[in-house]
Amino acid sequence: MDTQDIDVVLHENRAFPPSQEFQDQAHISGREAYQALYQKSIDDPDTFWGEVASELHWFKKWDQVMDNSEKPFFKWFTGGKTNLCYNCVDRHLDGPNRNKAALIWEGEPGDSRVLTYFDLHREVCKFANGLKSIGVKKGDRVAIYLPMVPELAMALLTCARIGAVHSVVFAGFSADSIKDRILDMDAKFVITGDGSWRRGNPLHLKSMVDEAIEGVDCIEKVVVVKRENSNVFDCDIQEGRDLWYHNLVKDQSQNCPVEKLDSEDMLFLLYTSGTTGKPKGIMHTQGGYMVYTYLTAKYVFDLKPEDVYFCTADIGWITGHSYLAYGPLANAASCVMYEGAPNYPDNGRFWEIVEKYGATIFYTAPTAIRAFMKWGDQWPERHDLSSLRLLGTVGEPINPEAWMWYHKVIGAEQCPIVDTWWQTETGGIMLTPLPGVTPTKPGSATLPFFGVDAAVINEDGEEKQAGLLAIRKPWPSITRGVYGDPERFKETYWCNWDGKYYFPGDGAKIDDDGYFWVLGRVDDVVNVSGHRIGTAELESVYVEHPTVAESAVVGIKHEIKGQGLASFVTLREDIEGTDELKTELDELVAKKIGKFAKPEKIIFTLDLPKTRSGKIMRRLLRDIAEGRALGNVTTLADPSIVESLKGQYSED
Ligand code: WT7
Repeated sequence: MDTQDIDVVLHENRAFPPSQEFQDQAHISGREAYQALYQKSIDDPDTFWGEVASELHWFKKWDQVMDNSEKPFFKWFTGGKTNLCYNCVDRHLDGPNRNKAALIWEGEPGDSRVLTYFDLHREVCKFANGLKSIGVKKGDRVAIYLPMVPELAMALLTCARIGAVHSVVFAGFSADSIKDRILDMDAKFVITGDGSWRRGNPLHLKSMVDEAIEGVDCIEKVVVVKRENSNVFDCDIQEGRDLWYHNLVKDQSQNCPVEKLDSEDMLFLLYTSGTTGKPKGIMHTQGGYMVYTYLTAKYVFDLKPEDVYFCTADIGWITGHSYLAYGPLANAASCVMYEGAPNYPDNGRFWEIVEKYGATIFYTAPTAIRAFMKWGDQWPERHDLSSLRLLGTVGEPINPEAWMWYHKVIGAEQCPIVDTWWQTETGGIMLTPLPGVTPTKPGSATLPFFGVDAAVINEDGEEKQAGLLAIRKPWPSITRGVYGDPERFKETYWCNWDGKYYFPGDGAKIDDDGYFWVLGRVDDVVNVSGHRIGTAELESVYVEHPTVAESAVVGIKHEIKGQGLASFVTLREDIEGTDELKTELDELVAKKIGKFAKPEKIIFTLDLPKTRSGKIMRRLLRDIAEGRALGNVTTLADPSIVESLKGQYSED
């Protein structure tokens, strides 16, 4: 954790209470209402969560709300039978939401499509019957590599409906990454697309999948969604293995009974980066995830029937799963889904979309806000944003300056901002203001959500004002673990403090009002534009290159991305560190992980600073890369390396 960050937030004491008008209409208003509910959720979680779950549909009621007999593998609503797709779609058909917009999709070229809950039901049923016809069964893993088209949201719901386990691979990942994930999850099916649009350019996807599954035995079928209104995406269809989605669903029945699933049946796997070179498949199950995303979406976004909710996240990440798809749909919300880049055809695209559909709630990442700030106020000013009533951020700490800009320029000083802290593993939002309750402070995710018992502790487990963020009690959507590696789950998240705390890997500070300020990762995970990248992943890519002897990758401050990556690379003897070699290494990272993982800088070095016991001194590398004073080097084996590194870096 960076001491400069602590200093900044320590001096941030502006507070912004919600307006009376917002409070008057909010689901929950006033600190007392929050406090009473919060207390109940902590003192009597079984009653609290049982009541929330009862707002949703269960084919059979649960026997037990929470089962902690196999700590830390908690189970929720055991014995209960439900289906998340049913709760997101079918449940809304009998009543006023039947013909309400569920998905409002906007393509990058400007084409659009609106699916009502009735439409969504029909499409999902046909898709489900189609998948069944090619042999997809309950428990099968289905890898999804799709752009932001409506079929992506539908693919999630369809898998959930039939009890297949979906695993979305963000469309920015490379063929090698898709392959690694497919092999790890032992997927039988892939759903992909021919292509999509990105900043006006065609993005070809199917060829990536072809490359990824070449020689991979587990894949039986590949379903290919054709991007509507676009005939430019050539792709090979391999007879017997690949099928067009439109042909698959064409003659299918519009009704497909839902699978009555156990609450603990697996819903999805989502791969995320950790401290080793291998991403982990984070598991979530039907019941607990459903209940938690439903309630957080309802209260954090104060969802009302008339809202138009616009979340800019890609469904390839957890935010898109929980708060573009499942959570809002479980609340019968109208969700705007946008395919393309925020700066196409111009820097005002998001604001144009807000105006076009009258979005009332807008949820995005700090990195995007910093880019908007840089592009200038004229872009939002060209559009009527008066429909907005609530703003949200997620993915990384937001700097107070960006928060204030969001508050003034986008929110016209009228909209509460919910800064939501959570992660892939938590499934849903954990620390957040409640918009009708919590006075917000720029840069703070404020208070724990219902049922979340959070603390800041030191390495000995003592509560402190600054230290490590830790969570005491399990909540319904806590991950059920790392796919195929139960030990890794225990070691990573429950290792210290006798298993009393879930440890998310973040540093935090708590202020005199009990507000949490999450300061960033304390492990070797870097948060680039709100996306997690493990430094070890890049390091293991570099050493695959024949010229590389050793490497160390660190996170550095980045004006827009929040954090960027700096790679220190030691070459084998007699190899010269040229610009061509840097390009080659960048290409290798793009091939092995994806273009988005490319570092800001590669620094060739003769050696890496190490302690006497041989550990690479990453803190020192960060100091060098960010041009700071050198800190303590007394344990360094060869202090001259530092001086030479510093020289090389500043010349760069
Ligand atoms: C990590 C989780 C949650 C969905 C997107 C990222 C960081 C997330 C905040 C926030 C400060 C945040 C943490 C966390 N993070 N939200 N509001 N304030 N930091 O999900 O890829 O699983 O990453 O993102 O470091 O551990 P993820």
